[in-house]
Order: sequence, then structure tokens, then C-alpha cells
Amino acid sequence: MITLNVNIDHIATLRNSRGGSEPEPIIAAGIAELAGATGIVAHLREDRRHMKDRDIRLLREIIQTKFDLEMAATDEIIQIALEIKPDLVTIVPEKRQELTTEGGLDVRANNDSLSTLCKKMHDAGIEVSLFVDPDEMQIEEAKIVGADMVELHTGVYANARGEAQIKQELKEIIAGVEFAHNIRLKVAAGHGLNYVNTQAISRIPNIQELSIGHSIISRAAFVGLDNAVKEMLHIMHNCK
Ligand code: PXP
Repeated sequence: MITLNVNIDHIATLRNSRGGSEPEPIIAAGIAELAGATGIVAHLREDRRHMKDRDIRLLREIIQTKFDLEMAATDEIIQIALEIKPDLVTIVPEKRQELTTEGGLDVRANNDSLSTLCKKMHDAGIEVSLFVDPDEMQIEEAKIVGADMVELHTGVYANARGEAQIKQELKEIIAGVEFAHNIRLKVAAGHGLNYVNTQAISRIPNIQELSIGHSIISRAAFVGLDNAVKEMLHIMHNCK
């Protein structure tokens, strides 16, 4: 059954907006797990705009399910990951000016450094997922550099408008999932998924997990985090 990893970065965004300690990301992680999330995702950005180092350390201690640390492949963050030892690292490209991650990694252009990164993480017992567009060349390259998993970027699908464009983007994701599965990569998907567009993604065979943040945390403001996670799980598991 497809599983849900809840990205709680925006709990930290809200906390940081007043510089205090509320709302506490650690509590959000616990509530999301109790509601049925099978993983918690947090992105430690170079500029620390939401998650702080202290959050990542505490999350490692309290997460009972799976801790997915989203990160750019920079020396500083790699070192932190090797010390903290999350269960999984999801490697993303990172630009200072972007509001959120804007596109998949260019694995081919960075194959040497990514293959070194995979080796270091594996030596420390950490699995590696590479965030890529649903593009066969990038997926194949992820396999070559030694990744365990690819997370397929669903942002273009999420932003598509009109039936034809949505269908086309969905087709590309389906083809990417099939390709990755056939070369024995685990497959996740995420970015821009919400209470409307997630059902079609959940129907795709061989996607193991979804990584969803903004829509769940937004809905939580109205219905509570517990309900927001449960409603998303309901959509994911009743999609046939
Ligand atoms: N997956 C990756 C790799 C991401 O960078 C993000 C955003 O932090 C997400 C999933 C979650 O995206 P959203 O917040 O749009 O659900």
C-alpha cells in the first residue's frame, strides 16, 4: 500500500515568523505519525529558512517511523546528515532565491559527486533518494550513481491546467515510475500534491510513497493536523 511521508517544514516556517517556539515541529511530527503518516520529512536548507539544526537533531530522536532528511548535496549538510543519521536522505537541488524546490536534480551533470555521496551515506547506513523529473535519462543516471530510490517531481503535473495538459503530465509520471521500477529503483513522488490532484498519482502502480507538505499543513490550520493527515490518507487509499 502506498505510504505517506509528511513534510513539516511549514510548521517551522510559521514558528520562525515570530521568532519564538510555537508551533513546535517536534509535536507536529508526533501528531502526523499518530494520524498514520509512515514517515516525516524535513528539509535543512543552507539558509535555515525553516528547519534549524536543533530541529533536525530532535526529530532524529523522536521520530518513530522513518526520518527523511531533504537536503542539497553540499559539504556542510552532508556532514550533518552523516552525524544525525536519518533513515533516508532525499537529495534536491537548492537555490537561495527559490520559494520552494523548483525542479529535479541534474544527476548526469553531477554524477561524480552524487556517486560519492551515495557511497558515504550507504557506509553510514542511510538510504538515498534523488529528486528527479520524470525523465528516463535522469532516472537511469540515478541508478548508475547508486541511489536506492528516486522521488519523481510532480510539480509540473500539479501546475498543469486543462484536461489535456494534466493527462500529458500524468502520462510522463506513469512512464517514469514504470521505468524506475523496471531498473529496480524504489519510487516516491512529491511536490505540489494536494487534496485534488493526489488521487490520480496514488493510482499509479509501483509508487511506494508520497512526500506531501504544503497542502497538509495548510489544511491543518482549519481542521487540525490529525484530520488533515487522515483525510490525505483516505484519498490515497481509496483511489481505485
Ligand atoms: N518533495 C520534495 C523533494 C520537496 O522539495 C518538497 C518541498 O519541500 C516536497 C516533496 C513537498 O512539496 P509540497 O510542500 O508542495 O507538498
